[in-house]
Amino acid sequence: MNSINGPVILAPSLLAADHAMLANAANVIASTGLTWAHVDIMDGHFVETLTFGPQMLRCLQRHEPELFYDVHLMMDEPWKHAPAFAEAGASLISIHIEVPCDHRAELARIREMGAKCGIVLNPATGADAVAHLLDCVDLVLVMTVQPGKGGQPFREEMLPKIRQIAQWRQDRGLDFRLEVDGGVDLRTAPLCVTAGADTLVAGTAFFNAPDKNLFARNMGCA
Ligand code: DX5
Ligand code: ZN
Repeated sequence: MNSINGPVILAPSLLAADHAMLANAANVIASTGLTWAHVDIMDGHFVETLTFGPQMLRCLQRHEPELFYDVHLMMDEPWKHAPAFAEAGASLISIHIEVPCDHRAELARIREMGAKCGIVLNPATGADAVAHLLDCVDLVLVMTVQPGKGGQPFREEMLPKIRQIAQWRQDRGLDFRLEVDGGVDLRTAPLCVTAGADTLVAGTAFFNAPDKNLFARNMGCA
């Protein structure tokens, strides 16, 4: 896990890649010199869409074992599937605060499985909802769109939430990464970084960029 003082990390979201060519997409990420891949797992309940299962991750991990697989579980019952994703090679597993459960216990369980752990907030959820968990996570993910699909416009009204969480991190001397997800592109990335984010998920903007190296550089991530 990179320190929060390290460079800004760009985590391309495989959701926006050609799903029949995911190994190729992982290779494109690695050959751009990037180290993280964001993997959106949607269960058709927590969000309407269905995406990938652990078997896909296991295969991808064999093709590109060096990547850090940042697995975002958009699921009603993440505890049922987190072990399979950890076993399949997830480097970090994030669960949503909106899912009713003992989050502290579930996050600890993810760490026991050998992965880093993260907590995610939907746009409608205030920063206060995760304030009590900041000492037990490796990453906080602020959704800047309603989860469920890629290509949506960035919601600038999420910036104060990012600032608030970054402020708490500084005040309490904590060490977790602060990630944003949804509508992140060349225009919105600087807003996120200025607000305190250090990890940027980009799906559409990354995979549509004709020159990935130039895109990563312009995002401040290369
Ligand atoms: C949305 C997903 C995002 C999505 C972002 O539910 O969590 O990771 O892939 O896509 P873009 O970058 O296209 O907004
Ligand atoms: Zn995501």
